[in-house]
Amino acid sequence: MLDLKRQYRELHQELLDAVGHVLETQQFILGEPVATFERDAAAQLRVAHAIGCSSGTDALWLALAAAGIGPGMAVITTPFSFFASVSSILRAGATALLADIDPTTFNLDPLAVETVLHGPRGAAVRAVLPVHLYGQCADWTGFSRLAQAHDLKLIEDAAQAWGAEWNGVKAGALGTAAAFSFYPTKNLSAAGDAGMVTTNSDEVAERARMLRQHGMRRRYFHDEIGWNTRMDGFQGAILSVKLKYIDGWNQARRTVAARYHELFAAAGLAEAGPYPVHGVVLPREVAGSHHVYHQYVLRTSRRDQLREFLASRKIGSEIYYPVPLHQQEALKGLGYNEGDFPEAERAAREVLALPIFAELREDEQQTVVAAIAEFLS
Ligand SMILES: Cc1ncc(COP(=O)(O)O)c(C=O)c1O
Repeated sequence: MLDLKRQYRELHQELLDAVGHVLETQQFILGEPVATFERDAAAQLRVAHAIGCSSGTDALWLALAAAGIGPGMAVITTPFSFFASVSSILRAGATALLADIDPTTFNLDPLAVETVLHGPRGAAVRAVLPVHLYGQCADWTGFSRLAQAHDLKLIEDAAQAWGAEWNGVKAGALGTAAAFSFYPTKNLSAAGDAGMVTTNSDEVAERARMLRQHGMRRRYFHDEIGWNTRMDGFQGAILSVKLKYIDGWNQARRTVAARYHELFAAAGLAEAGPYPVHGVVLPREVAGSHHVYHQYVLRTSRRDQLREFLASRKIGSEIYYPVPLHQQEALKGLGYNEGDFPEAERAAREVLALPIFAELREDEQQTVVAAIAEFLS
């Protein structure tokens, strides 16, 4: 699925030097290595503030809390994401409401969100948390319209979307605040857990910086109950090295995606969608979006058998995500039932992520597509 060692081989001396510098300066938590990464990351995303923290999950919580989301308020998000998109809302003390996804992009559908806003629990909604799933921005034109009409904050879950854009604006600079993850499998990755909040609001940034250090503005004077969610110096130093390469790696991912498209089309397997019949429905970059293909996810009707077949050929694949969030044991308390989000439930049965990373070779892609062709024939 992902061979991280290929990237490491290219960068190993630079990374060792960066880690060595942290050891020399002994700045293990925040400090200069993290401040440098925050400054360069904000410049690259063309956003006013970047605040490093300890994971994408913490970044989501920090973004919500710093934007003033808390008890008595509701936030709408998607049932088709990683667990943290919902658990962070609950950690912030708010109520999580769900709305269904668009079957083409797998992203939260603004029309479904609008229906929830007009429903019985709509009056408590203060924010929407769209996820830029698989590296493609959610429909920000639709969400901006809703935010204006209903006076809502928009919190981006940009964990999978470093470098993605919507109408020329980078993910991370679109909403009230955004959360990134640098988990080792992410397109911009740390050597452990790390995350970041970005925002154009001075107020949200100041609050996020305070909340990530136990609510302290002044050392040992606590204004609010925050948490310890600071970024390590080692992670800041490693991320600063990789930040210089991420645009190139994202471009390479787009090339890999285009090659998969060509190979599937040439094999006569590509179907128009949004639902599969006998072949595969390929991921689509929608108008206005710059997709970074954090994942290359297709839909196919005999997904589980295909996955087993690929595994028998030693070809990696993955399911993001097999169980929609409203059907997770831990989230039964949200009060939803099977059938409430038919698009998310169907996607969970049909999606399959294929190997994609900047260093993936053309011959390896040919092997993947040939195996899928053999299975489908
Ligand atoms: C969409 C999404 N949101 C949130 C997270 C949480 O990030 P982390 O694993 O860094 O806590 C992830 C990554 O796992 C993710 O993919």
